[in-house]
Amino acid sequence: MTVNTVAPVVAGVDLAAWEADGRPACRPGPLNQRQKGGMVTMSEHNGRSIVEDRSPGRVGGLTRACLEAAVLAPSVHNSQPWRFRLRPAGIDVLADRSRRLAVVDPGGRELLISVGAAVLNLRVAILGHGRVPILRVLPDQCEPDLVARVTLGPVTAPDPTVRALLAAIPRRHTNRRPFTAAAVPASVMDELVAAAAAEGAALAIADPIGRDAILGLAATAEDWQRTEAGYRDELTAWTAPPYGRSDGVPAHAFGPHDRYESVPVRDFGLTQPGLHRGDATFEAHPTVLVLRTAADGPRDWVRAGQAMQRVLLTATVRGVATTPMTQALEVPEIRGLLTDPARHRYPQLILRVGYGRPAVASPRRALAEVLVPGQQP
Ligand SMILES: Cc1cc2nc3c(=O)[nH]c(=O)nc-3n(C[C@H](O)[C@H](O)[C@H](O)COP(=O)(O)O)c2cc1C
Repeated sequence: MTVNTVAPVVAGVDLAAWEADGRPACRPGPLNQRQKGGMVTMSEHNGRSIVEDRSPGRVGGLTRACLEAAVLAPSVHNSQPWRFRLRPAGIDVLADRSRRLAVVDPGGRELLISVGAAVLNLRVAILGHGRVPILRVLPDQCEPDLVARVTLGPVTAPDPTVRALLAAIPRRHTNRRPFTAAAVPASVMDELVAAAAAEGAALAIADPIGRDAILGLAATAEDWQRTEAGYRDELTAWTAPPYGRSDGVPAHAFGPHDRYESVPVRDFGLTQPGLHRGDATFEAHPTVLVLRTAADGPRDWVRAGQAMQRVLLTATVRGVATTPMTQALEVPEIRGLLTDPARHRYPQLILRVGYGRPAVASPRRALAEVLVPGQQP
């Protein structure tokens, strides 16, 4: 099975068309009103409501399964900056800006990438449970925190791609351990590139010169960040004990120190010098990918998040370990060096891929914490 050539995850839904249309400013109306004629509506397909199997105020089995998949998305510093609102016909995904990282992500770009990843998981879960997800990104100018409205579309039979991606959701973890020297086969790289393309983003594989430049910029960026007011405090806020908390990066996920500093994995233990992590030899020539979008606004960041997550899930299906590394993109001057507006290339994520010992899961908040008030699992 070829993961990305079997079928697009959003079979039957032209995501680009949805996004290109734009929304009338501040005009409330039925979710699917604009779809009449071109796309299916809830009343037309007569499908089950996503919440029909719950008693009032409670979340039913299908909804719960989809939400549980959504919250397993990666997020910057495991900040989990999302909220979910149940609607009769689907699920709204909202940004929780109280969880924005004010120092490394003042503009909320990485926040929306993280929320985009949750949206992708939600889509895969809905499709995996036999319904076509209909997606609208940033549908309401009056509610800027409403990142995506996902509606249940027609009944469908999940294909092998969808089933594989769905099964990968709980198995995907950020891996900050050393990788072996084994190269990721070209066929798998092609699948990762196709995964990004299917979501409207581009994934570039760095050649040796580009790789060394990017890794150098990442190291420089992190050095600079360590001197920036607030960086250490923010890092501490998202890594400090008590362990047992349900967000932030736990010590077991920090990974060892890189003995020869060949791979600038972010040092999440920076402000906890007493913590013994050990040293290890990382791969001398990491494989580095850059995920780019053609523009650089909120819509593009949500798109990048979905593309990132589809790449990560595809890698997981193929047994490839992944490490997002975004320090170089958090320092505007350094991100500028990797940006090429004339060619519509805006870097959104740097990714290391390879083979290594499996990583362990980081915690997630309970569904009760991520549902908007008044809704309960
Ligand atoms: C936008 C974004 C940026 C990230 N940047 C980094 C990074 O620079 N270094 C790193 O080790 N992990 C990075 N991560 C991974 C998160 O730390 C990770 O997703 C989170 O701790 C949850 O762990 P999990 O991915 O194992 O579920 C990033 C993730 C996202 C979505």
